[in-house]
Formats: sequence, C-alpha cells, structure tokens
Amino acid sequence: MTDTQVKHSRSVTKAVVPAAGLGTRFLPATKAMPKEMLPIVDKPAIQYVVEEAASAGLGDVLIITGRNKDNLLNHFDSVPELEYSLERKGDEGKLDKVRESSEVAEVHFLRQGQPLGLGHAVGRARCHVGDESFAVLLGDDLIDPRDPLLDRMIAEHDSRGATVIALMEVPRESVHLYGCAAVETTDDPDVVRITGLIEKPSAEEAPSNLAIIGRYVLRPEIFDVIDELPPGRGGEIQLTDALNYLAEGKGDGPVYGVIFRGRRYDTGDRADWIKANVLLGVDHEELGDEITEWVIGFADRLREQRSEG
Ligand code: G1P
Repeated sequence: MTDTQVKHSRSVTKAVVPAAGLGTRFLPATKAMPKEMLPIVDKPAIQYVVEEAASAGLGDVLIITGRNKDNLLNHFDSVPELEYSLERKGDEGKLDKVRESSEVAEVHFLRQGQPLGLGHAVGRARCHVGDESFAVLLGDDLIDPRDPLLDRMIAEHDSRGATVIALMEVPRESVHLYGCAAVETTDDPDVVRITGLIEKPSAEEAPSNLAIIGRYVLRPEIFDVIDELPPGRGGEIQLTDALNYLAEGKGDGPVYGVIFRGRRYDTGDRADWIKANVLLGVDHEELGDEITEWVIGFADRLREQRSEG
C-alpha cells in the first residue's frame, strides 16, 4: 500500500479545531483580529494547523469559532475577484498561494455559542463527528511541519484501540500553563500509559513534567463524558477532566500519550510567536537565505554589544 492508501484505510478522517478563544495574551493585536489569523512568516497560524490535519489524511476539518472570527471564515473561502485579477496578470505563483487555503481541506465551521471552555467546544462537534474517532488540533499550538506528530498518534490509536494525546516534557516552572499527566512507561520509549491528568497544576501538585500539547485523537465516547462533566478549573468544562475520567478507568478504554520531541510553538504567546517566525523564516524557500544572513549578523552585533557592556 502507498502512504496515501494507508492514510485512507484509517479509522480517523475528521479533525476538530477549537478556535473560539479571545487571545487576551496577545492584546492589542487581537483586539479586532482573531489570534488564529496572526501570520507566521506569510500564512496565518490556523492555516498551518489545517494543513497539518490534511497531511495526516484528515481532509474534513471542523473549526469551532466564536464571536469576531469572520476573518477566519473568509480565509478559507475562495476570492473570485482577486483570483480573476491574478489570472489576468498570469501570476501563477500568487494565484497558487491564494488558492492554497481554500483547497487544502473541506473546512466546516460551527459557532461555540457560549464560551464555556475547551471541553464544551469539543462537545459541540458531536453533530459533525458522529460515531467516529476524530482528532482535535488546538489552533494556538503549531507543530513544526518538519516534525510530524499526528500520523504517529493515529497509528497508536488504531493499533491500541485507545484514546491518544500528545505530551511534551516542559520545565517544572511551566507546568502550571498546561494539563499535566501521571504516567506509566510502556515497552515503547515514546509511548506512555496515562493514569491521571490535572489541568494547570502548581509545580507541587504536578505528577510529572509531561504537559499536554494541543493534539488529541479521541474516541466518540468522549462526548458522553463531556456531557456529564461539572465545570472544572476556571469554572470551565475542561477537556483534560474528561480525559482524566477515562484515564482513571471510569469510562471506556485506556488513554495513551505519545511523547513529542520535535519543535512546537505556542503562537498565542508573544515570545513563542516571534521565535516561530524566525525558526520557520530561516528555512522558508523564498526568504530563508535573506533571513538567515540577517539573523547571523544580528546575533553577532548583539554579542559584541554585550561584551562591550
Ligand atoms: C489548553 C488545555 C491544556 C493544554 C494546553 C496546550 O489550555 O486546556 O490542557 O495543556 O491547551 O496548549 P489553554 O492553553 O487553552 O489554556
């Protein structure tokens, strides 16, 4: 079987991308623009996420939006007047770029309705997903396209018949920003069995330094768990709490974690966003050489200034 045939024979074909958050960490840039539309080099962050889903064989993408997200919807539409003008000029390169986002996947939208938390947003996807396993990709978390993760998670889901989430080692002092996992090892160094999860624990409460990053492969049973969940941290319906219920053996099936050791950027965080632009910029096919030269020169100047100071 070819790679594409393997992907098509899988049980997971749909992706859900929650993108209803307010982006308060990035104000004022996000005052009138969705945080998911912040560009990384020349593409909005959300396009990388949809491309990641599509390249893992998930051609059906449901984006869960909220208020003031019109730009996000427009980005995945075609723009006939712009395309016509580029066609007349014979500018195939730009035409391809304009069409990329409207052709990458079949993109659907659903409004969350009420901002009741990530678990609630995922629960809203039930009518679209139905009785199938599906992937969740958080719009803020950008996994470097050079370090694929979803393929591996889907393969683990298929072979173990289990819920699978992505984990990453983070410094203890950052654990309070994430969901955090208690784990048991398996015979695969990249896969752990999860025995418990806590949303945003303090460093003392944290059972490990393994943080949930925004990629999940979920079984449809998660919807019933979400429906019954009381509000958790911050008064919100937390996806982490639903997964903890399964991990503690109260629901249907175990939860495994795939440990990601590649490059991941939190594009809702200003410093990470700047780093993502540099790291993807230096390898960009058109801009890479120019940016690399500039970064090297700039680093040299900074080093000189520091040694003089
Ligand atoms: C969400 C999840 C959290 C996870 C994080 C990854 O939190 O609730 O468990 O670790 O995404 O980015 P948020 O960053 O939306 O507050």
